[in-house]
Amino acid sequence: MSLQEKLPPRDEVLREFQKKIGGNMLLLAYKLKKWFPIRRSIKEVLLRKPPRYVRAVDGITFYIREGETFCLVGESGCGKTTTGRTLIRLLDPTGGYVFYKARPETLKLLKETLGEKVYISGDYIDLTTVPAKKFKPLRKELQIIFQDPYGSLNPRFKIKDILEEPLLVHGIGGSAEEREKRVLKALEDVKLTPADEFAYRYPHMLSGGQRQRVVVARAVILNPRFVVADEPVSMLDVSIRAEILELMMELKRRYGLTYLFITHDLAVARYICDRIAVMYLGTIVEIADSDTIVENPLHPYTRALIAAVPEPDPSLRHRFKDVPIKGEIPSAAAIPPGCRFHPRCVALDQHPELRSLCTSEQPELIEYEKDHWVACWLYQKK
Ligand SMILES: Nc1ncnc2c1ncn2[C@@H]1O[C@H](COP(=O)(O)OP(=O)(O)OP(=O)(O)O)[C@@H](O)[C@H]1O
Ligand code: SF4
Ligand SMILES: [Mg+2]
Repeated sequence: MSLQEKLPPRDEVLREFQKKIGGNMLLLAYKLKKWFPIRRSIKEVLLRKPPRYVRAVDGITFYIREGETFCLVGESGCGKTTTGRTLIRLLDPTGGYVFYKARPETLKLLKETLGEKVYISGDYIDLTTVPAKKFKPLRKELQIIFQDPYGSLNPRFKIKDILEEPLLVHGIGGSAEEREKRVLKALEDVKLTPADEFAYRYPHMLSGGQRQRVVVARAVILNPRFVVADEPVSMLDVSIRAEILELMMELKRRYGLTYLFITHDLAVARYICDRIAVMYLGTIVEIADSDTIVENPLHPYTRALIAAVPEPDPSLRHRFKDVPIKGEIPSAAAIPPGCRFHPRCVALDQHPELRSLCTSEQPELIEYEKDHWVACWLYQKK
């Protein structure tokens, strides 16, 4: 278990994926890691025990195409939020690269201010090389929608002030009138009309759905390119979830956004996403387009997840009845050796010949079929 893994040169990695994916690759996370150190007791320090870590995100690789809605699904604690935040540098990564195709004016500005310190190649910048203090020009392009519409809006500010704040921080909209115009336009975009009425309300005067519309407006007011939507509807009443999802899709079409959509709900993922990545305990175990993940899942964990979906298609549940899931998800601070799913994997009972391999070596994520990636020894020759 090493904190700093030796990675191939950036040029090599970027070239390989550009060749494979083409020019419409907006973002590439390569062996991305986020480990949180666990505080050691005095006894551990005195005994010089090595530091321990919560391996929340443990070397994941995936790409997102421009205009795509890419989903991360998985059980609670598997590392979805940490992935989203690390990608857009709300958390500093422990290792790996994040190549992002930035707007030409942003690249130019960063090139001028940071020179050789930052990795830029063609249209791409490695976000992990940008010092945290110099990240501001990129922040406009990389936004996040949080899960909790109650906790993420300051109750003491009017909606107008909440939406104006990012404009002020980024020096957008020269005069107060111009900023107000932008705020009203953002409110209209998220269908909070009449906008001039909503602008002067406080968050507590809005319903949960209306607040989440404000959260969405705050994310899009800066004209971003890439938005991480972290469980944006899971705290909302079921009756208004579809409305918010529709709104997000409409804004995506209108402004050419690309989403990383985080959810634990496979039915929502299938409804809204182009491709789905399934996470388990800090790794990605399978990636494919949404229909393939639901109709033809390969990984035993994905099959178990689908078997557990109560709705909307009971026939799928029946199909995967042979693959229930055993036990609880282990802690990210005590990851099992080998394939980290092995203590819960029923496929091992059917394939006992794989046991020694599965319990000792972690399978790589490989492209098993075109655009269908899986990390499981069942699909790899050793
Ligand atoms: N700041 C932190 N310090 C220490 N551990 C953390 C921190 N943030 C997250 N973790 C741990 O990292 C792991 C992944 O957490 P994360 O919040 O990314 O999971 P998640 O998939 O988003 O879960 P949920 O579905 O519950 O939101 C968990 O074990 C969590 O306890
Ligand atoms: S690698 Fe082995 S233990 Fe892991 S999911 Fe595949 S069959 Fe199960
Ligand atoms: Mg989360």
